[in-house]
Amino acid sequence: MTKQVATNITWHEGETSRAERQKNLGQKGATVWFTGLSASGKSTIAMALEQVLIQRGFHAYCLDGDNVRHGLNKNLGFSAEDRAENIRRIGEVSKLFADSGLIALNSFISPYTADRDQARKIHSDAELAFIEVFVDCSLEEAENRDPKGLYKKARAGEIKGFTGIDDPYEAPPNPELHLHTDQQSIEESVQAVLDCLEQRGLFKKD
Ligand code: ADX
Repeated sequence: MTKQVATNITWHEGETSRAERQKNLGQKGATVWFTGLSASGKSTIAMALEQVLIQRGFHAYCLDGDNVRHGLNKNLGFSAEDRAENIRRIGEVSKLFADSGLIALNSFISPYTADRDQARKIHSDAELAFIEVFVDCSLEEAENRDPKGLYKKARAGEIKGFTGIDDPYEAPPNPELHLHTDQQSIEESVQAVLDCLEQRGLFKKD
């Protein structure tokens, strides 16, 4: 649990309710959290889903691990502590997005169950939907794809602490959705996420 450092701060409740924001946008905010190995297809699916949602008139935004590490989280590396802080920050950011009425699509390896569960908790405490999608792909297939050549470098010892090679990945025990991207196409995966969101009433405009 991250320590509260600042003192003498007071929560300021705004004049606008979440319901008003949602009504304005015609949708409910939520966080869809994609977790899985590097090259499992998280970002490909999240970004394809973003396209579909935008084309259907929803407001969605993809928060991608590699991209967020170019800015907000550029001061973090890949130690367990830094990964935890990466996920903590992005959990908080997507909670704000969801509270604003947006559908946040988070694509992060997020290898530790405790860190993902903490992100889930801050959403449920705020009564915001949190949908965890396990982008399951065998290490063998991820390594075969190796779009950035990082597995090759990790096997050669040029990258230390690479997830799946010499750093752990803890699979989610109870995700809302479990994809198998070494067997499903991108289109099938995107459709499965859309179905899951639909079943959970995310697209109800009330
Ligand atoms: S996380 O573990 O903290 O959730 P995040 O999703 O932000 O990771 O970033 C993962 C991306 O960083 C990978 O897709 C890969 O491109 C790159 N990367 C660089 N070094 C590592 C490493 N040691 N382990 C995993 N990914 C790494």
